[in-house]
Amino acid sequence: MKQVVTIEELRSELCAIRSEGRSVGLVPTMGYLHEGHACLVRAAVAATDEVVVSVFVNPLQFAPDEDLDTYPRDLDRDRDLAAEAGASLLFTPTVDEMYPDGPVLTTVSVDSLAGRLEGASRPTHFAGVATVVAKLFAIVGPCAAFFGEKDYQQLQIVTRMAGDLSFPVMVNGVPTSREDDGLARSSRNVRLDPDERDSAVCLSKALNAGAQTIESGIKDPAAIVQVMEAVIDADPLGRLDYVAVVDPDTLEVPEVIAGPVRLLGAVHYRAARLIDNRGATPPT
Ligand code: PAJ
Repeated sequence: MKQVVTIEELRSELCAIRSEGRSVGLVPTMGYLHEGHACLVRAAVAATDEVVVSVFVNPLQFAPDEDLDTYPRDLDRDRDLAAEAGASLLFTPTVDEMYPDGPVLTTVSVDSLAGRLEGASRPTHFAGVATVVAKLFAIVGPCAAFFGEKDYQQLQIVTRMAGDLSFPVMVNGVPTSREDDGLARSSRNVRLDPDERDSAVCLSKALNAGAQTIESGIKDPAAIVQVMEAVIDADPLGRLDYVAVVDPDTLEVPEVIAGPVRLLGAVHYRAARLIDNRGATPPT
């Protein structure tokens, strides 16, 4: 695996790859890679000839009071993990390389999908994500890109953006990779102290309890939210941000649960805010 830092160098590597008729896959990341990221790289390796993993902590998607400066970083480990998972190129641009003219004047926003759920707590977040992903699509020109279901709203937004703007990229979702107890793997999990780490499974437990209630035939979204909230409220350390039951495509709350839905939630800890989600289908 080769590491490249500039867009020019990356394009020249990709030009050589394409001249041999080989397809290119992209896995965008912010680094501090873990097994969840490795699952995306392996999915990309299975579907395309050469895989680019980008590691870029994108300032545009962090609000001023968020954790941009303290976002965990370990490029040496990232290099090993990406190589081990089968990546061909590791693209590690600087902020200046990605945003040479300072703050961008052009941004991509994916209107109604971006304001709710995560967007309600983080109003500028998804425009930052969509803009950097659009730039990475333009820089790399992949035929396929791989995103985790772990960030379900992000996956829906990127999928919609690629369609709306006619990017010739197939956006693929990869199932969430979890620890043995069900906690979704996340770069931010390192910020949990041991007691918080034990508590953090309350989010996936809440989502599972919501899904079971749906599977038992309860059709009222508000009742499902109550079930999920009760699990998190019963935990002494996790502080509920939100839980929700939404349509898997529009992310709108259905009046009744008549088909497949997505359950999503976020919980605060002292130094980390964790998110998770899962699907659920009512009995026929
Ligand atoms: P980051 O949080 O580093 O995540 C990179 C990719 O890994 C995302 O598609 C995310 O959904 C996926 N991922 C993270 N944890 C996962 C898990 N446990 N199982 C499966 N996939 C997982 O998401 C971002 O970076 C950024 O917003 C980015 C898309 C790179 C734009 O800056």
